[in-house]
Amino acid sequence: MSSATMARGPEAAANGFDLFNLPDAYYRDPVPFYKALRDHEPLHWNSDGSVLLSRYDDIKTIWRDLTGKVNRAEAYAKKFGEGPLLEHHTSTMLFRDPPDHDRLRDIVNPFFTQASMERLRVGLREIVAELLAEVEEKREIEFVSEFSSRIPIQVICDIFGVPRSDGPIIRDLGAQVLLPLNPAVSQEVIAAGHEATRKFKEYLLVHINEWRRRPVEDVPSNIISALVAAEKRGSPPISEDEMAHMCILVLNGGHETTTNLIGLSTLALMNHPEELALMADDPGAVGPGIEECLRYATPLQLQGRRTTREVQVPSGTIPPDTEVIIAQVSANRDERMFADPDTFRLKRAPNPHLAFGAGIHVCLGRPLARLEAGEALPALARRFPNMQLAAEPVFNRNARFRGIQQMRVRLY
Ligand code: HEM
Repeated sequence: MSSATMARGPEAAANGFDLFNLPDAYYRDPVPFYKALRDHEPLHWNSDGSVLLSRYDDIKTIWRDLTGKVNRAEAYAKKFGEGPLLEHHTSTMLFRDPPDHDRLRDIVNPFFTQASMERLRVGLREIVAELLAEVEEKREIEFVSEFSSRIPIQVICDIFGVPRSDGPIIRDLGAQVLLPLNPAVSQEVIAAGHEATRKFKEYLLVHINEWRRRPVEDVPSNIISALVAAEKRGSPPISEDEMAHMCILVLNGGHETTTNLIGLSTLALMNHPEELALMADDPGAVGPGIEECLRYATPLQLQGRRTTREVQVPSGTIPPDTEVIIAQVSANRDERMFADPDTFRLKRAPNPHLAFGAGIHVCLGRPLARLEAGEALPALARRFPNMQLAAEPVFNRNARFRGIQQMRVRLY
C-alpha cells in the first residue's frame, strides 16, 4: 500500500495493503495502515495466499488454537534454501511444535522465573547506574548506541556466562540471523543470514565445548551449563545443533526486542512530558507504565501460524493449511478492546495487551524484559526529567522487529 493509496482514504488503503512491498511511511508509523485493515478488511489475503489478521479477537483465537503449527520447514526451505539459516529457523522451540517445543523450553525455563529475576536485579541496577553516570557527562547522546542497546546485551551475556565484551559481535550476528524472517527480503540478506548463523554456531560451540570439559553443575549457573548438563545426562535429550540454536534464539530474543522496547518507550515518554514526569515521580505508575509501553510500542510486531484445519475466528473462516500472519501491533491498537488506543497513558487499566504473544509460545523472556524496562525507564526519567529529542529519530526497516536505529536525545 503506497502513501498515495493512504491519501485516497482508509478503504482504498486497506484494499491496497501489500505486506511484501511496504512503503517508507509504514516504517515510520505502521499504526494508520492497520487501522484501515481492522476497519475494512480484517481478514486480508496476501498475494502469496497467506492471510493477515489485524483484530484483537481474531488474533487471540489463532494464538490460543492448539491445532495451529509453527513449524515452517517447507516454506523456509523454499525461502532460504539449504544451509545454517534454514537449520536455525527450523530447530529452535520458536518454530517447533509439541512435544519438541516443550522438551526444549523446559531446559531454559528456570532461568526466567521471578526468583531468577530477583537475583539479576542488583547487577542490572549497577549496569543502569554506570550507564547513566557515563551519559550524564554529555549534553546530547545517540540513545540507541550509548544507552538502550547496552543494557539488555550485558544482562543476556551474564545469563549465558559469556563475556560482556562479546556483546557487539552477538548483536551484529543476531541482527543478520533475524532479518531474513521479514516478509520480503533480498538474496543478499538471506546469504548474509546463512553466513552469520554459521559464525554464530562456531562462536557458541567454543563455549559449549568449554562447559563440556567441566563437571556438571548441580544447579547450573548459566544457560550453556544447563544445556550441557541436559546433554550429559541425556535427560531431556538434546542434540549439539539444538543446543547451539537454542543459544542463538535466546541470545537474540534477549537483547533486540528489549533494546527496541527501551528506545521506543523513551520516545513515547519524551513525546508525553506529563507521562515522563509520572514515570520519574510515581512508583505506582512504573508497573502499569511498562505494560503501557509494551502495548504502545509492541517491539515484536508480526508472528506466523499455519492452520491444520478450518478455523473459525470472529471475523470469518480460515481454511486448513493456510499461513496466518498475526499482526499483534494492530491488536494492541484495536479500539474494540482498548479505549482511546492511540493515547499513551501509563496508568491504563485494564491493559490485556498481546506484546508477548499468547498460548504455548508466549514469550519466555517476558519477566526479563519487564525487569530491564522497569529498572531503566524510571531511573532515566528521574535523572533527566526534561529530556528531549534533538532530531527526528530514524526507524529501522524491519516489519517484524520494530525499533529505532538512531535517536539523538538532549539530556536535561
Ligand atoms: C520487549 C521485549 C520482548 C518482546 C516484545 C517479546 C515478544 C515475544 C513474542 C510475541 C513471542 C511469541 C512468538 C510466537 O508466538 O510465535 C516471543 C517468544 C519468545 N521470546 Fe520474547 N519478547 C521479548 C523479550 C524477550 C527476552 C528478553 C527473551 C529472552 C531472554 C525472549 C525470548 C523469547 C523466546 C525464547 C521465545 C520463544 C518461546 C517459545 O517458542 O516457546 N524474549 N517473544
